[in-house]
Amino acid sequence: MEQTTNSPAAESRAAKILREAFESGRPLTYVRTSEERRAGRVLREVGLRLFAPTPVPVWTWSLTSGMHRDGQAAEVGTHDPRGALDFIAAHPHPAIFHLMDFHEPLRESAGIRRCLRDIYESCRGQRKFVVITSPVRSIPEEIERSLLFLELRPPDLVELVAFLREESGDSSHPLLLQLAPALLGLTLDEARYALRRALAATGKLGPESLPALLEEKRLLINRSGVLEYIADGTNIGEVGGLDGLKAWLLERRKLFELRDSLNSEIVPKGLLLMGIPGCGKSLAVKAIAAYFQLPLYRVDMIEIFSGRHGKPEGAFVEACKLMEDLVPAVLWFDEIEMGITSANAGDEQGRIFAFFLTWMQEKARGLFVAATANRIDLLPAEMIRKGRFDEVFFVDLPSDEERLEIFKIHLSRRGVDAADINLDQLTEFTQGWSGAEVEQCVVSAVTKARLTDTHVTGVDLIQAAVKIVPLSRTMEQQINHIRGWAFERAVRASRRR
Ligand SMILES: Nc1ncnc2c1ncn2[C@@H]1O[C@H](COP(=O)(O)OP(=O)(O)OP(=O)(O)O)[C@@H](O)[C@H]1O
Ligand SMILES: [Mg+2]
Repeated sequence: MEQTTNSPAAESRAAKILREAFESGRPLTYVRTSEERRAGRVLREVGLRLFAPTPVPVWTWSLTSGMHRDGQAAEVGTHDPRGALDFIAAHPHPAIFHLMDFHEPLRESAGIRRCLRDIYESCRGQRKFVVITSPVRSIPEEIERSLLFLELRPPDLVELVAFLREESGDSSHPLLLQLAPALLGLTLDEARYALRRALAATGKLGPESLPALLEEKRLLINRSGVLEYIADGTNIGEVGGLDGLKAWLLERRKLFELRDSLNSEIVPKGLLLMGIPGCGKSLAVKAIAAYFQLPLYRVDMIEIFSGRHGKPEGAFVEACKLMEDLVPAVLWFDEIEMGITSANAGDEQGRIFAFFLTWMQEKARGLFVAATANRIDLLPAEMIRKGRFDEVFFVDLPSDEERLEIFKIHLSRRGVDAADINLDQLTEFTQGWSGAEVEQCVVSAVTKARLTDTHVTGVDLIQAAVKIVPLSRTMEQQINHIRGWAFERAVRASRRR
C-alpha cells in the first residue's frame, strides 16, 4: 500500500496535479470530469496547501448559483458568465475560481472567449487561478493555447480514505485503510453507492463489509464490459506442479513489494504463460494475484474485438488507461493472441501491439501483467522477444508426479482424504492428461460416490478415468506442434519430469 496514506496530511494525486499546475504559474485550467462536486473538494484541498499556511479561498460559479463561496450567497451581478469573469478580473486577492460547465458560455460567445483571454493575461502572477470543469472536452481553438487541459482520474487511496472517514463518521484508520483499496477505480459517487449497499447488507462498517464492497465494485467495474474484476482468490497451494513458475514468483514477489525503492529496470512487469489448454494457466494467474495480495482484473480480448465497445484500438487503450487508476493490481490479458498479432501488420491489430509494447514499458510500477495464450502460432515472434515480459513460461501437460499432486488437490477440495486412496495406480491410466481432465475425473468419481452414499475409492477413480478420452489423444498433432514451438521460445513452468 502506498505509504502516503498513512499520514493524515497526505496529498491526493488529483490535488497534487492541480497544485503543480498552479505552481507552474498557469492561471487557466480546464478539467474534464463528470464529478464536479469532487473537483470542488479537490480544489479546496489544493487551496489549503498552495501557499500554506495561508489558505487560498475557493470561489464556485455555475449558471444557476452565480459566483459564491461555500455556504454563502452569490455576489451581485455574477449569475451571467460575463459578470463572473468581471468579478474574477476585479478580485484583489489570491483565489481559486471554480467555473462549472463553463464550456457552454465559451462555445456560445466570442465576447466571453475574448474576456477569458484577458483574464489569462491579468491573472498571471496574481495568484488567481481559474478552473473550468466540464464533463466534455470542448475548448474553442483560440483559447486552446492559454489553457492547461487535464482529466480527473478516479480517486486514489488518499481521497478514498478521506471520503470513507467522512461518510462513516469513523476515523479508525486501520479499518479505512483496509476498505479503501476495495473502492479503487470507482468514482466517488459510485464509491458512495457501493458503501451504502455494503452498509445495508452488513449493518455497520467493519471488516465484514469487505465482501459486499468488493461485490459492488465487481458489478460496477464489469459494467464497462471490457474489464472484469475477478474476486475469487485462489491459493497458490491449489495449483499442482508448475514448480519452476512458483519459484520464480517467490523471487518476483519480493521485488514487486520493494518496487518503490527499486530501479525501474528490475521492478517486475509481468509474465506470459502459454501452453496446452486445461493445464492451469488461468488458475495460475488467479493464484498470482492472491499470492501478491493484489486484486485481479481481466481484459477480455475477444470482447475488445467484438465491436461492442467502439473501435478495438480505442477500447484497448481505454482499458489500459483505466487500469492505471487501479494500481496496485494484477492485470490479466486472457487469450492475448486473439488481439495482438504483428506490429508490422500496419492494421488495427498492429497498432494495438505497438501501443501494448510502449505501454508495457511505461505503465505504472504497481501493475503486474499476466498474459495467457493458447494459439501460440498466432502469437507474433516479437511478442515473445520484445513483449517486455520478464519471462515467458510454457505450461505443458503435467508429469506423472504433477498429476498425482493435482489429484490430491481436487480430492481434498471436495472433502476427500487422499491419504486413504492408492493414487499411484492412476499414473498409468492418466498418461497425457491435463489438469482439467484430472479434475473432471475427480468430479465424476465424487459424484458417483455421493449418489450411492459411499466414500470415494481408488476403484471409483479408475472407473471414472477409463471413460475419459484426453484431449492429447484426439489432438496429438496439435499438441506436439505447440510443444515443438514452445520448447525453444519459452521456459518450462514445471521443473521436474
Ligand atoms: N496444475 C493444476 N493444478 C490444479 N488444478 C488444475 C491444474 N491445471 C488445471 N487444473 C484444473 O483445471 C481447470 C482448468 O484449468 P485452467 O482454466 O487454469 O486451464 P487453462 O490452461 O487456462 O486452459 P485454457 O487454455 O483452456 O484457458 C482449473 O480450474 C483447475 O480446476
Ligand atoms: Mg484459461
